[in-house]
Amino acid sequence: MRKKIVAGNWKMNLDYNEGLSLFSEVINMVKDEATGTQEVVVCSPFIHLHSLAQLAKGYNKISVGAQNAHQAESGAYTGEVSAKQVKSVGAGYVILGHSERRQYFGENNELLAKKTDTALKNGLKPIFCIGETLQEREANQHFDIIKSQLVEGVFHLDAEAFGTLVLAYEPVWAIGTGVTASAEQAQEIHAFIRKELAAKYGEQVADDTTILYGGSCNPKNAAELFAQPDIDGGLIGGASLKSRDFTDIVKAFN
Ligand code: PGA
Repeated sequence: MRKKIVAGNWKMNLDYNEGLSLFSEVINMVKDEATGTQEVVVCSPFIHLHSLAQLAKGYNKISVGAQNAHQAESGAYTGEVSAKQVKSVGAGYVILGHSERRQYFGENNELLAKKTDTALKNGLKPIFCIGETLQEREANQHFDIIKSQLVEGVFHLDAEAFGTLVLAYEPVWAIGTGVTASAEQAQEIHAFIRKELAAKYGEQVADDTTILYGGSCNPKNAAELFAQPDIDGGLIGGASLKSRDFTDIVKAFN
């Protein structure tokens, strides 16, 4: 059975102390709750990771992740952080292929395939993001775009390695805009993704893969989105910066 996951993506927000306070609040608000969400992941800036991982120790349903990691193992890449370094501070996950990385840092599918390999090799679970822009949706290209992001980004993996991934469908037009995909729109794409996974890796792998929805997910719309058969949780940006909103989303699986 696939896991229900709610992941927060803090992006480039919160100084060190603000991040620690927020994470402590989140832990306190979810640690004793029996929620349908089986794992809560907070993806913070690198500076927080070690401390958050320490705070999360002992809570097996709370994990931390990075928002990026370099494709090389190590070396002369000033300013970059490797997957091995991320893993060494106790993080379990890394977001790869977020649309902001694709848009502002020129990350394409080919590079993301390399980053995925390096992350997996170092024991990190990628939360691999895919999604179409508004222009692509209006041109009715969304299915093609999503398929090529899968094929070029992650379908080089064998079934066992693929089984480690979490996917996140994030329509670019819904990220940070307050415009959410409707539950039907999101479900349609999630079902399409699962169908592509089944064609490539078989029904079992497709069935076991957690596919998150991301893009203006909030406490008001989370329950309806998470009730869709192929939506297994959320990747939450803006609403992950407020402990109450984020934990209400975590509890939307109840
Ligand atoms: P948002 O961001 O929830 O603020 O739309 C989602 C994301 O970028 O992962």
